[in-house]
Amino acid sequence: MIGKPTDFLIRCSAAQLTKAGIENALYETRLLLEAATGISLKEQLTQPDQNLNAKQVQVFAEYVELRRNRTPFAYITGQTEFYGRKFQVENCLIPRPETELLVDLVLAKQKEWFSGKPRILELCTGTGCVGITLYLELKTECAEADVILTDISEQALATCRANIMQYCEPDCQIEVVAADLFPELQRFDLIIANPPYIKSEDIEKLEADVFEYEPHLALDGGEDGLDFYRRIAEELKPFLSDTGNTVLLLEHGSGQRNAIKQIFAETNLDIEKIIELDDFQKHDRILGFVIK
Ligand SMILES: C[S@@+](CC[C@H](N)C(=O)[O-])C[C@H]1O[C@@H](n2cnc3c(N)ncnc32)[C@H](O)[C@@H]1O
Repeated sequence: MIGKPTDFLIRCSAAQLTKAGIENALYETRLLLEAATGISLKEQLTQPDQNLNAKQVQVFAEYVELRRNRTPFAYITGQTEFYGRKFQVENCLIPRPETELLVDLVLAKQKEWFSGKPRILELCTGTGCVGITLYLELKTECAEADVILTDISEQALATCRANIMQYCEPDCQIEVVAADLFPELQRFDLIIANPPYIKSEDIEKLEADVFEYEPHLALDGGEDGLDFYRRIAEELKPFLSDTGNTVLLLEHGSGQRNAIKQIFAETNLDIEKIIELDDFQKHDRILGFVIK
């Protein structure tokens, strides 16, 4: 294929991806070419006769082959975009666009929820995309937050630390802690989590891109998918603020809202307000509690 213009390579590769069942094959091929060679989408369209060198052809062919085998795009390039920043994703769940709603919600409500410097705990942090984004966005809008990020996976935390190093100053107020859900006892103004919430029996029914490549530790929410919400409801109390309210924000799977509300209704937590938010597809997606 060396010496063939990019447009020819793109069309041959897109045909392979289409055959492998990839939707938007042409667009994905162009993105793979951009990632492999640095040739932007605009250049690909305006200079379709450009020739690639041998190294570029080799890397592009490797990327197309990986995608043909259903490796998610983000694992091929090693990163994905979240709230306008590129996050490394190795050994982590690939951040989903709907998770940005958690950040939107906190930024919209920060004046109502926090006075002064908020203490924030993110459970099940993975790449750290939520907690790191909150730290960076709050810093530009108000006081710097104190942020603790936890995950049980050391491999995920290594990626999380790399993301912190990429975007935050070395002495930033973000602490990364390996923990089975909650860290050592501290009190927080905001506790936020997108925990695993797929029913165990449904994991193998997920699309190949997810089932074969994303860490099952990041997906498996137990028999009914709700194990983590039950644990959070049971273990939360000592972490609540002793000076004001604590906001708990949880992302969840479509159709899980009522069951999670029921779990929290059965606790002795003093819930002042419930927050419900649907995603762009109008699926129930975020549940929050303002707790006294
Ligand atoms: C659905 S992913 C969320 C990742 C990230 N917060 C996001 O929204 O993109 C769930 C995360 O929970 C972590 N996890 C699984 N079991 C855990 C446990 N017992 N304690 C803490 N974290 C856990 C996984 O390693 C994974 O990173």
